[in-house]
Amino acid sequence: MNRLKAPPLSTDALREAVDWAIATRRSVRAYLPRPVPQEEIESILSMARFSASGMNMQPWHVHVLTGEAKARLSAAIAELDDDPSRLPELSEPYDYYPREWVSPYLERRRKVGWDLYGLLGISKGDKQRMHVQHGRNYRFFDAPVGLFFTVDRELQEGSLLDYGMFLQSVMVAARARGLHTCPQAAFLKFHRQIADLLKFPLGQMLVCGMSLGYADESCVENTLVTEREPVCTFTTFHDIAKETRV
Ligand SMILES: Cc1cc2nc3c(=O)[nH]c(=O)nc-3n(C[C@H](O)[C@H](O)[C@H](O)COP(=O)(O)O)c2cc1C
Repeated sequence: MNRLKAPPLSTDALREAVDWAIATRRSVRAYLPRPVPQEEIESILSMARFSASGMNMQPWHVHVLTGEAKARLSAAIAELDDDPSRLPELSEPYDYYPREWVSPYLERRRKVGWDLYGLLGISKGDKQRMHVQHGRNYRFFDAPVGLFFTVDRELQEGSLLDYGMFLQSVMVAARARGLHTCPQAAFLKFHRQIADLLKFPLGQMLVCGMSLGYADESCVENTLVTEREPVCTFTTFHDIAKETRV
């Protein structure tokens, strides 16, 4: 891709296409068994590598799992997840979520959780069905491709910021190819076991996992559309000239 290339579409069509890819990216939690050709996966990563990173550090490293490799990893993690006695062995490589949930994040977290469980007919307190649904994470929701993203442990928080841009680019590039994704922090508590199973080079830390594939639109969980706050609730426009003009 020539990065100085002129847009391939008119201004309106271009905006519509880019906006469509961003807005239709949503977390899909049920996939068709239809395989994703390796060239398609490479093409997505080849676009995502154009993401910005401080000092062009490009701190990303991707592990792509399909077929037997994905099945073996999923089975090993599912076995651990189903065995409460192994819980004390688990730890997370970094704090992704806050240690204490406060407003408004607590309410947003609860809403998305109950909206998903509500669609699936899982009632509050049905711990067994919640465990089973959560466990679908470890099978990548049956997606044909599982991705793991790692970063050099030596790097700082800024590299996680860069990583977020890369992950979004992967997800948006997937949409442009008719594919869907679900980023997954659920794998973090198994980071040590995943590092062993996939033989991560020493010093590489798991950032997150991701499902990639074609959505099974017949599954009710894929009808979940999460809400967003309007721009005015999170934006402050500063225009000193305007403020002093009055
Ligand atoms: C880094 C990251 C980790 C996430 N981890 C999980 C996960 O482990 N399992 C899951 O089902 N969804 C996960 N999600 C999806 C979020 O729940 C989802 O992005 C959010 O509810 C907004 O919904 P949307 O992605 O459909 O727009 C994760 C999202 C991000 C960005």
